[in-house]
Amino acid sequence: MKTATALKKLNLNISEFEERLFDHSIVGITDNEGTILYVNKNFCKISKYSEDELIGENHNILKSDEHSPKFFEELWDTISSEKVWEGEIKNKAKDGSYYWVKTVIIPITDDKIIKNYVAIQNDVTKEKQIQQRLLNMEDDLLKQNITLLSEVEKKSADLVKSERLATIGTMASRVAHDLKNPLTIIHTYADMLTPEILSKLDSQDREKWFRLQTSVLDMNRIIEDVLDFARTTEIKKKKSSFLSILRLAVNHVKTSYGIVINLPDKDISVKCDARKIEGVMSNLLSNAVYSLDGQGEVDVETSSDSENLIIKVKDSGPGIPENDLERIFEPMYTTKTTGTGLGLVICKSIVEQHGGTISVSNKPTTFTITLPLH
Ligand SMILES: Nc1ncnc2c1ncn2[C@@H]1O[C@H](COP(=O)(O)OP(=O)(O)OP(=O)(O)O)[C@@H](O)[C@H]1O
Ligand SMILES: [Mg+2]
Repeated sequence: MKTATALKKLNLNISEFEERLFDHSIVGITDNEGTILYVNKNFCKISKYSEDELIGENHNILKSDEHSPKFFEELWDTISSEKVWEGEIKNKAKDGSYYWVKTVIIPITDDKIIKNYVAIQNDVTKEKQIQQRLLNMEDDLLKQNITLLSEVEKKSADLVKSERLATIGTMASRVAHDLKNPLTIIHTYADMLTPEILSKLDSQDREKWFRLQTSVLDMNRIIEDVLDFARTTEIKKKKSSFLSILRLAVNHVKTSYGIVINLPDKDISVKCDARKIEGVMSNLLSNAVYSLDGQGEVDVETSSDSENLIIKVKDSGPGIPENDLERIFEPMYTTKTTGTGLGLVICKSIVEQHGGTISVSNKPTTFTITLPLH
């Protein structure tokens, strides 16, 4: 049944029907070039322009920068080929605010020539806002999910590490503890015998005796380190000269003729546990020297900013395989037959107890430590 006939039956005339329909919609009529010829009340209300301001203007007056030129090209292609276009458009009102309208544009032809376009629209701004909010929420949730997942992964890796560390800690401290007593006995007797023995030794044997003495002291230091680490004793910070710490650390490093260790000229004062930082430096230097295999240089460079002392230990050795860069700070990772693989773990723990950081990079092999100055 034709609309006109149906309306007649219902006792409504077409213009009354249109008026009712238009009451609930935003209606605009343009000529075939988009110049506005008619707007209804709702059109003015939502666009915040008066009827006078709109009539005679091009429909572009409402254009926002939401849609691409391609979007409008397709719209015009559709309606100029006498087809109805349906879609959602974001428009810009007179006061600069935006609104979304669900739109149907109908081309009106006369003698097969398009004369007008009628646009019937409904305000869907609220729906769009809700949709946008939902999208944002989904985005946020996704991001949170990713962060949570990586946090869980990191935490479980940390847990595995700390469990391994705890086991190693217990084992190491037991061994260190058991070694401590016999070592104290050797140390005491050696000390007692020193004057008597030294008087009877020739210079070569005297040298050997001194080496024995220093080795005992070294062993004692290592044991103390392991015990310290296992106990994770509180660090005792005191204002210290970093250069003095470095010089003491160098004394523990076994070098050979072809190896040069360059220390910085300038001293920097830093508040730290000197004995522990000496341990850190001596392990980094020992590692560097070991990697040189008898020939090469180790450079220790220091600098500072307002908060940190920055220490770089560089060596001319072959470096660390890229895949192992992360693993070298794990307990028991060692490529040496005599290594314990605890050196860097202890270094990291001590540096972190100071509130600092330690990292490594290749070419040249560089260990970088930051230590808070105060
Ligand atoms: N400067 C370096 N150049 C090349 N490889 C290095 C360097 N420093 C560390 N490494 C690698 O990292 C590993 C771990 O070092 P770490 O100090 O933790 O243990 P270690 O030296 O093997 O044993 P130790 O417990 O006696 O120190 C080394 O075995 C070595 O493979
Ligand atoms: Mg080491």
